[in-house]
Amino acid sequence: MNQVDYLRISLIDRCNFRCHYCMPEGAELDYILLPELLTNEELLTLLKEVFMPLGFKKFRLTGGEPLLRPRVVNLVREIAGLPGTEDLAMTTNAFLLADFASDLYQAGLRRINISLDSLNPETFDKIIGNRGRSRWQKTWAGIQAAHEVGFDPLKLNVVVIPGVNEEEILDLAALSIDRHWHVRFIEFMPIGNANLFEQRAWIPSEELRQRIRDRWGLRESQVRGNGPADVFQIPGAKGTLGFISQMSECFCDRCNRVRLSADGWLRPCLLNETGQIDLKTALRRGVSVSELREQVKELLQIKAEINFKQRNSGTTSGIYTRTMSQIGG
Ligand code: GTP
Ligand code: 5AD
Ligand code: SF4
Repeated sequence: MNQVDYLRISLIDRCNFRCHYCMPEGAELDYILLPELLTNEELLTLLKEVFMPLGFKKFRLTGGEPLLRPRVVNLVREIAGLPGTEDLAMTTNAFLLADFASDLYQAGLRRINISLDSLNPETFDKIIGNRGRSRWQKTWAGIQAAHEVGFDPLKLNVVVIPGVNEEEILDLAALSIDRHWHVRFIEFMPIGNANLFEQRAWIPSEELRQRIRDRWGLRESQVRGNGPADVFQIPGAKGTLGFISQMSECFCDRCNRVRLSADGWLRPCLLNETGQIDLKTALRRGVSVSELREQVKELLQIKAEINFKQRNSGTTSGIYTRTMSQIGG
């Protein structure tokens, strides 16, 4: 069992996009927005008094869209400044990133992962559920801003959707050739809006790799991140290609993370909420931090069992009662 030292922190469940596979337009009523979020103070207490003493040192801020969290830059500065923070990253859709990139960098954020499912504005708008002015340009400007400010590594996440963006695989992969960018292809997961893509929901990573191999060749990279991606490289490219294959492969045995939702629930696994703890309510009821540490230790034990079972059954199927935007991807 891997050491679990990585906490993914959802800062907010709201989003300014309506990605078809996550929180589609018109279905808002299905996504009862979380009533009350953890405050900055509560979050910092949990990090300093509960997670860091248990050995957690890597933190990723997610959402919904984390940049919608009020005064997010201050929060980034505070987390980056904690002595126990070794690695602080964010996953964003980049729509607001042109405004935030420089301040985030100055606040101490260095790693950023950006969702970008298409280079074609029309397809992009279709996926993100845009009905007004195209959002592609501003998103692309956000990515450029992050690049110019110096975020490195800069990772682009592509959820591959059959019949929608699969024809763009090579164009997206090509972004890794001249820039030190890491393009990651993610197998679509039946979570949240599973019913949307019942037909042929996901494309196995190996099929994508074959298409890329046929065009440029592909070699396995020496660099392995701390995440679930298998990393490859087009020969001579500056960046890499990652494949996140949670449908065709079970990577539970190397899982190093747990997740804290914006309303303070700690869950052991993206796809399984067994043993989850309501840390916000516990804090507000005055439960001591030493008691909370014990509860988190128990949850880590449960996680080890879940991962063991998932690995042995070769599947990550679990209980999906929350959407990706509510859990924090
Ligand atoms: P790095 O630290 O940069 O390697 O980040 P990451 O790849 O863990 O983070 P990111 O937020 O970019 O996640 C990309 C995708 O990986 C998510 O959308 C999920 O599809 C998948 N993913 C991340 N963590 C898990 C996990 O614990 N289980 C499963 N099944 N998928 C995960
Ligand atoms: N399957 C795979 N990835 C998903 N994401 C959101 N919903 C899904 C899904 N059903 C991705 C987003 C983002 C990351 C945090 O999660 O594209 O890059
Ligand atoms: Fe927003 Fe990310 Fe969900 Fe898209 S996938 S709607 S950007 S939270």
